[in-house]
Amino acid sequence: MSYIEITDVSRVYHKNGAEFHALHHVSLAIERGEFICLLGPSGCGKSTLLAALAGFDRVTSGSIRIAGEEVREPHIKNVTIFQNYGLLPWRTVEKNVELGLESLGTPPAERTEVARKYLAVVGLERFAHSHPPELSGGMQQRVAIARALAVDPDIIFMDEPFAALDAITRMGLQDEISDICRNEGKTIIFVTHDIDEAVVLADRVVVMTPNPGQVRCVIPVDLYGRRDRTSADFLHIRDRIFAAFEMKPKDGTEYYI
Ligand SMILES: Nc1ncnc2c1ncn2[C@@H]1O[C@H](COP(=O)(O)OP(=O)(O)O)[C@@H](O)[C@H]1O
Ligand SMILES: [Mg+2]
Repeated sequence: MSYIEITDVSRVYHKNGAEFHALHHVSLAIERGEFICLLGPSGCGKSTLLAALAGFDRVTSGSIRIAGEEVREPHIKNVTIFQNYGLLPWRTVEKNVELGLESLGTPPAERTEVARKYLAVVGLERFAHSHPPELSGGMQQRVAIARALAVDPDIIFMDEPFAALDAITRMGLQDEISDICRNEGKTIIFVTHDIDEAVVLADRVVVMTPNPGQVRCVIPVDLYGRRDRTSADFLHIRDRIFAAFEMKPKDGTEYYI
């Protein structure tokens, strides 16, 4: 049995009297400690699948089990990071990181200690007493990551967390999150529509296609440690993903979009 088992999941919406399959017979098994990227164009059901995994939404048919338990609601041991950071602007950076620990009933002194530890992990200890609006987007997302790690979650769900950032900040954060997540040994399910981002981060890339939302294939990324975006191995995996989307014929000579 795998840690996360998605079995024949469909999610049907009713639009103007017609059925629309946001997810259509999706099956996938994920092991503990894996970094999985759900990759695909807008509308292929990535957010729908993530919301179902995180317990925010129910599927129409099929089942999702985590550690053998059917997912019915958000679980205290799992956290979700969104594109808009979700920080409270009136609280300091440190108090934002303590938020989840407060819900868990962690005593104040321990909360502060844990918050400082994770602010150091994301390189923001100097900003503990700043407020989120004083920080750049990249720094705010690092606060959100510190807050997620502080509760020692089993699984971190991320829905296009870097989409609002400029390209350079985004590349830096991709490298950072890749290092941090590997060191912390968490299971990560990360939604993106960016092929390079998926190859930088994932152990396996789940390639999804729309109308109806389906898993086209799963591509393993056999690269270790921090990834070199210019290496032949990196580009080879990137090419395989392009081919999977049928944007590029298998002989690699031309692009069709
Ligand atoms: N609440 C909803 N009602 C109707 N259709 C929805 C709803 N949520 C999502 N959809 C549709 O389901 C499809 C998949 O959406 P989504 O999971 O958000 O895609 P992605 O995250 O890959 O862009 C889209 O076509 C979207 O319009
Ligand atoms: Mg989405």
